[in-house]
Amino acid sequence: MSSISIIGPGDMAGALAGRALAGGNSVEIIGRDPARAAALAATLDGATVGVPGATPAGDIVVLAMPYAGAAAAVSAYGNALHGKVIIDISNPVDAGLTGFVTPGNSSGAQEIAKAAPAGAPVVKAFNTVFSHVLAAGDRPLDVFLAGDDTQAKAHVSAFIESMGLRPLDAGPLSMARALENLGLLQLGLVTHSVKHTNFFVGVTTIS
Ligand SMILES: NC(=O)c1ccc[n+]([C@@H]2O[C@H](COP(=O)([O-])OP(=O)(O)OC[C@H]3O[C@@H](n4cnc5c(N)ncnc54)[C@H](OP(=O)(O)O)[C@@H]3O)[C@@H](O)[C@H]2O)c1
Repeated sequence: MSSISIIGPGDMAGALAGRALAGGNSVEIIGRDPARAAALAATLDGATVGVPGATPAGDIVVLAMPYAGAAAAVSAYGNALHGKVIIDISNPVDAGLTGFVTPGNSSGAQEIAKAAPAGAPVVKAFNTVFSHVLAAGDRPLDVFLAGDDTQAKAHVSAFIESMGLRPLDAGPLSMARALENLGLLQLGLVTHSVKHTNFFVGVTTIS
């Protein structure tokens, strides 16, 4: 089991924390407004509240905030993240939901990795799972991940499995752009055809 710190006490934090706790992991919620972190933790059986800016308790640190603030948050934590595995769950999409705010040859995860201290590998994961689908906890969802550090990906994969989910490694961190495109595709489907978010994208093997 893993110890998890989640920075950004919003919808994804609640969904991830609930499944993580159910899977036997320890969970710390951190918010730049400690009252919001405490309010979310109060809804979760067993979650603790961390101090913003202090060294997170978790071996895994999930950035559960909008992409716009993620790299700056990582920079602000700086060496407090040394030795941690950072999970980037963001979808760095533009306001029109047709493209990205990141440089064309990069991805949100790669930009966040540039801000991370040495010894704090970044793994992209969870960006293709809607928060309420994750929170429902009644399906073995597929969770795609990407990263350059094999040990970090193994750690994150074990964490995902502990939540009753299936980790599917998509390759190096440069593949985060593909995962972010998948997130963008989902948002386009919600806007233009499916019209709701009660679905997930996974891999079905046919014989
Ligand atoms: N919702 C989904 O279904 C879904 C699915 C896949 C991926 N994601 C990704 O997950 C991330 C979180 O989404 P969400 O839906 O959970 O958002 P949310 O409900 O709006 O929560 C975002 C949280 O981030 C905090 N925050 C904002 N800026 C911050 C900063 N600069 N530093 C620290 N904390 C900050 C906010 O706290 P304050 O109260 O302080 O503003 C809030 O608690 C986003 O990157 C999103 O793209 C979401």
